Amino acid sequence: MTASAAGTRLAHRWHTARDYDTLARRIQFRNAELVAGLHPQPHEVAGAYEIGCGTGALTEALVRRLPVAEIDAVDISADMLAVAAGKPWPQRVRFSQGAFPDVPRERRYDAVFSNAALHWMHPRYPEVFAAINELLADGGLVCAATAGRTPATERFAETCRAALAPLSGLCEPDEFEARRLTLDEAAELSRAAGFTIDDAFVLERTVLVTTDTYARWWVASGGPWTATQVPAETSVDALTTALGGVGREVELVHASVFLRLRKQGPVERA
Ligand SMILES: C[S@@+](CC[C@H](N)C(=O)[O-])C[C@H]1O[C@@H](n2cnc3c(N)ncnc32)[C@H](O)[C@@H]1O
Repeated sequence: MTASAAGTRLAHRWHTARDYDTLARRIQFRNAELVAGLHPQPHEVAGAYEIGCGTGALTEALVRRLPVAEIDAVDISADMLAVAAGKPWPQRVRFSQGAFPDVPRERRYDAVFSNAALHWMHPRYPEVFAAINELLADGGLVCAATAGRTPATERFAETCRAALAPLSGLCEPDEFEARRLTLDEAAELSRAAGFTIDDAFVLERTVLVTTDTYARWWVASGGPWTATQVPAETSVDALTTALGGVGREVELVHASVFLRLRKQGPVERA
């Protein structure tokens, strides 16, 4: 089958938006609940901004947890936003398409939230943290999770690289590993952007998934094939085979850095 006959091409990373809610349920939906729960005074948030809302996993958690907040949610992908738009939302939620940090920043919010999106903005992390700071009112909070780097994610990446090595020609080196932050790196970026750190921790988990689920999830998340414009199903099949064939269970290692950051107010002078 040629790429055009396949109909689905990796023209951008989030081409399988319709699969996302199924594939991401065990990890990202749980992380979204944790991110929403990082805010200590949810009843006091009047205005919240969400970066990289995707199909609305975190947005849903925010609607439940922040009873009065107006929520502005932005995402770069029209496909992900279209899935979000198909769900029922209260009027206080507004979705818009935009590429963070290149978005208007006239308004100030009480809180900025993000789950599993900031790493897609690498290598612009410093600019991204500065833009988040600019969006916040003094004393405002950031509650976010982004891809984490741990010894276990390094080992996992190495195993995947070895499994994919025979597929050269189909796959190209993926930059994903460069997107991961250690806890120290996340703390450094936060302080450099003018935040104090209320809380910062890494959550690492190992999830047993079948090879085909794993392959689908990886390809949906960008995976190693973004540069080559290979049909999504070809990529999924190749990766499934490389990992040992359909139905076999593999251990997926996932790590996220969670942050609760506070924007410092103006320094009081005696
Ligand atoms: C893994 S999904 C996470 C979606 C959602 N936050 C969740 O918890 O399920 C990452 C999302 O980030 C979005 N994204 C990537 N780069 C972006 C950017 N520069 N600005 C806005 N959204 C972006 C993608 O389109 C995708 O919807």
